[in-house]
Amino acid sequence: MPMPVYSPDEIRTMEHVCQLAAQALYHTGKFVRPGITTDELDVIANDFMLSKGAKSACIGYHGYPKYTCTSVNEVICHGVPDGTILKEGDIINIDVTALKDGFFGDTSATFYVGQVSDEARRITEAAKEAMMVGINAIGKDATTGDIGFAINKYATKMGYHVVREIGGHGIGRKFHDEPFVPSFGKKGRGDRLRPGGMITVEPMINQTATGMIDHEIPGSTVQWYTTADKCLSAQFEHTVLITEEGARILTGY
Ligand code: MF3
Ligand code: CO
Ligand code: CO
Repeated sequence: MPMPVYSPDEIRTMEHVCQLAAQALYHTGKFVRPGITTDELDVIANDFMLSKGAKSACIGYHGYPKYTCTSVNEVICHGVPDGTILKEGDIINIDVTALKDGFFGDTSATFYVGQVSDEARRITEAAKEAMMVGINAIGKDATTGDIGFAINKYATKMGYHVVREIGGHGIGRKFHDEPFVPSFGKKGRGDRLRPGGMITVEPMINQTATGMIDHEIPGSTVQWYTTADKCLSAQFEHTVLITEEGARILTGY
């Protein structure tokens, strides 16, 4: 199945929900500081979405129990908000997916908790740049391999390691649609991107090549992941629209 493409009206609806997701993420990020819990951040994000007439797409998704994902330090992704108190020097990825008018907007960013180490800052900035390099690799007639190639090349140059098992995805009327968008690959390989289709670009970058450990979430088929040696992992995510010429970020703020 090729990736779905959407009408101009549908794309306008996507633009709206993606803007709400971006605003929810920005709003929640302002509360990140030592002493706050990931549960508190989760409720802040959800309250914001509700105030804008949107819902969290995460809660109830394959049994997932919370409104957002909050992934601290060695947590690669899908960290489940709980009573964990953030402390000075932590990094935290907050991943917000909003659902409104039948469409999904998915975005995440990694935030600093107070002052962080130079190395925490460096990997966080590299994860953001890896996402941008991946988005900028989407030219005319691009494939998912073009994105993955660019991300992996940049991450490797910076001395980091991409997560291969998890990546971006098609998005629109479905939260997770085709195609899979890997953070590694070969130019010209993979699925061809179609104008009017939408995907996420969301590389996860680790300090070492240790691999990952998966952890069960009670009552859910979603798993959360940590680096095997507890090294830092960072991630950013945008939802983008494929155009004739390239890509346009929908979750920009
Ligand atoms: N937002 C995540 C992504 O980028 C998916 C979270 S699914 C959940 O694809 F169930 F964990 F919320
Ligand atoms: Co996503
Ligand atoms: Co996400």
